[in-house]
Amino acid sequence: MNEAITGPVPNGFQGRVGWASPSNIALVKYWGKRGKQIPQNPSISFTLSECRSETFIGFEKAEHFGFRFFFDGQENPAFGVKIEKFLTENLAFFPFLNQLSLTVESRNTFPHSSGIASSASSMSAFVMGLMEIASLLTGLSTSSRAWLSSVPEPVEGPINLQKASYFSRLASGSAARSVFPKMALWGATPYYEGSSDEYAVSLENDIHPVFKTYRDAILIVSGETKSVSSRAGHALMEGNPYAPARYAQANENIKDLLAALKTGDLDTFINITESEALQLHALMMCSNPSYILMKPNSLNIINAIRAFREETKTPLCFTLDAGPNVHLLYPDSEAEKVANFIKDELVKYCDQSRWIADCVGNGPKKLL
Ligand code: PMV
Repeated sequence: MNEAITGPVPNGFQGRVGWASPSNIALVKYWGKRGKQIPQNPSISFTLSECRSETFIGFEKAEHFGFRFFFDGQENPAFGVKIEKFLTENLAFFPFLNQLSLTVESRNTFPHSSGIASSASSMSAFVMGLMEIASLLTGLSTSSRAWLSSVPEPVEGPINLQKASYFSRLASGSAARSVFPKMALWGATPYYEGSSDEYAVSLENDIHPVFKTYRDAILIVSGETKSVSSRAGHALMEGNPYAPARYAQANENIKDLLAALKTGDLDTFINITESEALQLHALMMCSNPSYILMKPNSLNIINAIRAFREETKTPLCFTLDAGPNVHLLYPDSEAEKVANFIKDELVKYCDQSRWIADCVGNGPKKLL
């Protein structure tokens, strides 16, 4: 490790960094983990654009590690617990933090009550800032081999995205995928060279142009906080009798989806994406204890989407995260038709008619 990372922090070392980072929506789902945030199967996601966290980190030399967290302008230690835990558990990677006091200010561009999980966006935004602080300290770019040599680094740039993905994964599994533009694959698979359980890789150069135009209309069925956290959901996979079959199926889906993404095969894309969403929820329904996160209106929306596709042959499909909201995915070329469909047939199933127009995006952005 570089001496500037392990040695004394220079007097007067202080400043502020800021990063925006997006959420992502998985097509092949990560559900079940082992060890230190190692996925039981690989997953693939679209990086989103509009649903982002914006995180600023003020830092200042101090006698010992200090941490304060503000959300939407208000001090909110409860919201900062996950970041603080990540930092204290991983101090070996960031020993310089023992001599820094951090003030983190974060906000999301999507409403807190939209039922959209913010851990992928908030953790990746925080990690990007943390890596920038490390690079300021070393005077080196964090893409240098001098820093954390155990993590491979094929990606060059002001901040090594492979490392950012590695640390984001330690903070929150699915956050590993948020640092890459367009689409990412996280988890080792024989079907993609360079894939790893420890960090995600970019799929940007291996997808048909149609997928770079994809839109995601997030239909808010309920803004309530979900009754079972994803941490608890992952843990329940350990006793799930269908887990081995699920992991085998996810690996097959990765193989087939990678091929479909390359050729622009929308039928296969639709088939796998919807099956994965329903499998995720089926796994919840056959956990012990079992639970259901979909609501009646989630099903109403799914049925309406399938009927509309059947009738109009529009290549649109749905996916679900670990919650009741439905993500409607479609190519940009269908935007006008789909906007009318949402207005005429779907908005009535949304909580206070709410939905968020998102699309595939370009990953984290430096704010300061
Ligand atoms: O990153 P976590 O631990 O919040 O798990 C996310 C799991 C899903 O969102 C349901 C699926 C996924 O791959 O993002």
